[in-house]
Amino acid sequence: MTGPAVSLTGAELRRGPRTLWSGLELDVAPGEFVAVLGPNGSGKTTLLQVLLGLLPLSSGQVRVHGAPPARGSAAVGYVPQQRALDPLTPLRGRDLVGLGLDGHRFGPGLRGRARRREQVHRALAQVDALDYADAPVGSLSGGEQQRLRVAQALVGDPSLLLADEPLLSLDLARQREVVELVDRRRREHDTAVVFVTHELNPVLPVVDRVLYLVDGRFRIGTPEEVMTSANLSQLYRTDVEVVRVRGRILVVGAEDAPVHHDVPEEVGVR
Ligand SMILES: Nc1ncnc2c1ncn2[C@@H]1O[C@H](COP(=O)(O)OP(=O)(O)O)[C@@H](O)[C@H]1O
Ligand SMILES: [Mg+2]
Repeated sequence: MTGPAVSLTGAELRRGPRTLWSGLELDVAPGEFVAVLGPNGSGKTTLLQVLLGLLPLSSGQVRVHGAPPARGSAAVGYVPQQRALDPLTPLRGRDLVGLGLDGHRFGPGLRGRARRREQVHRALAQVDALDYADAPVGSLSGGEQQRLRVAQALVGDPSLLLADEPLLSLDLARQREVVELVDRRRREHDTAVVFVTHELNPVLPVVDRVLYLVDGRFRIGTPEEVMTSANLSQLYRTDVEVVRVRGRILVVGAEDAPVHHDVPEEVGVR
């Protein structure tokens, strides 16, 4: 696939009286890992909805693989913002992952079913979930469930992966696992990644660029370019200090910042 996986030009999204963002210019290249940061309500999920073809822009242009986004496209994998699975969900991990495949592409009959099984097996292996693939999903830990969700998003072999806060409520080790597997995926398959996250630090080792949204304002660039005291103070319209400690970025002074810390003893945790 040549050309950008995602292309936003002069993109604006209004919802009721609010303009979530406008003048957004962003190309995401194949294999590129872009993190979308910003406080609650800044329009991160809305941006993914636009890329999924679920919501039109108010103005400007959006292209996914060179065409207007199409709902249900097999080329786009999606990890929705997390809800805990009902403990009584009558599905095994294997079934959950299979839901990410549309039934028709394998053809009917035994052969189609065998290929489908094989595809699900590969996706489970990719996220290292084979050990619990046959357990009821409701009995699994949050981290295990999240890996299955990522497998479900990857099983159709997408060239664009959209993930909405996939690290939420995972402990640090599990966060690292999810980040590493998404990173491996994009390196091995050139999958473009748009990764919404509340916490920058877990993705900092792998991220290429950051889109930071705050109340209609935004910055796009590498973490070094975006994560400066001057930039974030402008975005938050208050005095914000960005501090680098042991390879981590801490944001001090902004409510609800993705790497918000107001207690000094937090420095050095992890
Ligand atoms: N279905 C909706 N109808 C109208 N406005 C909405 C709807 N969903 C979200 N919004 C508005 O869009 C804003 C951004 O929402 P969202 O994209 O979910 O933010 P984020 O994911 O960054 O927390 C919200 O603050 C809300 O005002
Ligand atoms: Mg959201």
